[in-house]
Amino acid sequence: MDGHIKIPILPRIRDRGPARHFHGRTDQRASFVRVLGGAKNDPGRGTTFLVQGPPGVGKTALLHKMAQDAAGEWDVVHIKPAALESPVVMAQTLGKTYVANREENFKAGAKILETGFAKQIAGTQTVVGALRDCLNPRDNVILVLDEAQHLANPSVRAAEAAIRDALDDITNGRTERKVVLLLGGLGNTESALEQMGLSRLERNCLHNLKGLHGNEARNVIGDWLVDVGCAAEHLASWVSVLADLADGWPQHLIVCAAVAAEKFSEHSSAPTPEVIREIRDKVGKEKETYYRQRQKGLATEIIVILGLLVAYAGAGCHYARSRLLSALGVIHKDDVGAESALAILIKKGVVAEHADDALYYIPIPSMERHLLEQASRVAAYDPGLVLSIARKLLLVLADYRQGHTPQLPTQLRRVLGDAGMGTPPRQRGPLEAEG
Ligand SMILES: Nc1ncnc2c1ncn2[C@@H]1O[C@H](COP(=O)(O)OP(=O)(O)O)[C@@H](O)[C@H]1O
Ligand SMILES: [Mg+2]
Repeated sequence: MDGHIKIPILPRIRDRGPARHFHGRTDQRASFVRVLGGAKNDPGRGTTFLVQGPPGVGKTALLHKMAQDAAGEWDVVHIKPAALESPVVMAQTLGKTYVANREENFKAGAKILETGFAKQIAGTQTVVGALRDCLNPRDNVILVLDEAQHLANPSVRAAEAAIRDALDDITNGRTERKVVLLLGGLGNTESALEQMGLSRLERNCLHNLKGLHGNEARNVIGDWLVDVGCAAEHLASWVSVLADLADGWPQHLIVCAAVAAEKFSEHSSAPTPEVIREIRDKVGKEKETYYRQRQKGLATEIIVILGLLVAYAGAGCHYARSRLLSALGVIHKDDVGAESALAILIKKGVVAEHADDALYYIPIPSMERHLLEQASRVAAYDPGLVLSIARKLLLVLADYRQGHTPQLPTQLRRVLGDAGMGTPPRQRGPLEAEG
C-alpha cells in the first residue's frame, strides 16, 4: 500500500460528435464504401452522399466514422458552405488541411496558400476549377460538410448560383479529380439541395437515419459501461435497464451512460429498484429537455395535433405525406400553411422521413409519449381548443388506426371521448366495452 487512493480517470462523455464506441450503420457505411469505389474507378460518376436526420440521431458520428474508414486511401477535408461558394475559400481550405495533415504534401499546400495563387484562382476560376488546380491527379479527396441544412439559409442562398454549380459539378463527376462530397444535415437537407437546383442524388447516396437497433444500442451502452467502471458481473443487468430507457436513440444512449457513470463513481453494484428509479428520473429530465428543445417555437395547436395523432392513429404509426398534410391542415386555411408546418417539423426533428418507405413518423417512442402528455396538459387548461381540433381531425383520420394503442393520459382520454373519437378499442373499460 502506498497510501494513495487511485481515482479512475473517466473518459469525457459528450452527447454530440464523433463516437468513442461506434456501433451499427452497416448499410450506410457499405453504401459509402461502394460510392468511394465507384468514384475512384470512374471519376465521371456522381459523388455526393447525404446523411440526414433529426438532431442526436448520429449524423456527425457517422460522417466521422465513414471518413475514418476511408482515411487510408482518401484525404479528408472538412469544409463550410463558403468553400462551395468561393474558389479562394476552397483553395485555402484544401491548403490548410494539407499543410496541417500531410507533410509530404507541404509543397502543394504552400502553393495553394500563397496570396498570388489565391488571386489567380479568384480571378479566373470556379470552385471546381480550384479543385482541379489545387489537387494532384492522384489525390483522392472526401469533402465533408456537416450541418449542410445551412445551404438553405438566406445568407448562403445569396450565393446560390455559385453553390449550385459546384454541387452540380461535383455530384455529376465534372471535377476532373476524384472528389466525393459527404454531407450531413437535418431532415430538410435534401429539400435544401433541391431548392439549390440539385434535382436528385444517385441511388444509395441518400440516407435518412433512424435510431439504432436493439443489439447495436445495447453494444453502445455495454462498451460505455465497461469504460466508466461497471463491474463485469453486473454488466448485463445494467445494459438492459439503460437500453430500455434510451429507446435506441444515440443521444439518449450517451446520456444514459453519463448518468450511470455518476452512479459507478459512488458504488458499482447490480441495479437496485431504488437506483433504477433515480436513474430513470435523471434520464427522464434530460429527455424532457431534449424534447422541449425540439418543440420550441411550435404553436400549441401543432403540439395538440401531433398528440392527438399518436392518441388516435397509434404509437409507432407511419403516415403518408398527404395524410400528415391533411392533419396539419385542420388549423391552416391553405395547403401552403400545412406544407410549411410539415417542413418546420422535419427541420426540428419532431417528424422524420422513414428511410425505407418514404412515409413520415415521429422518430422516438418517448417523444410520442411526450407529445401525448403535452396535448393532455393543454386539454386540462383549454379543453375547448383540444375538442375542436379533435373533431376536425376525426374527419381527416376516419378509420386510420395503424400503430399500437398507447396508454392515454386521463385528460386526453376524456376530451377524445367528448369529440366522438372514442377511446381506442383496447383501452375501453369493461362498461364501455359492453355498451
Ligand atoms: N452509431 C453510433 N454508435 C455509438 N454512438 C453514437 C452513434 N451515433 C451517434 N452516437 C453518439 O450519440 C451522440 C449524438 O450523435 P451526433 O452524431 O452528435 O448526432 P447528430 O449529429 O445527428 O446531432 C454523440 O455523442 C455520438 O457520439
Ligand atoms: Mg451533428
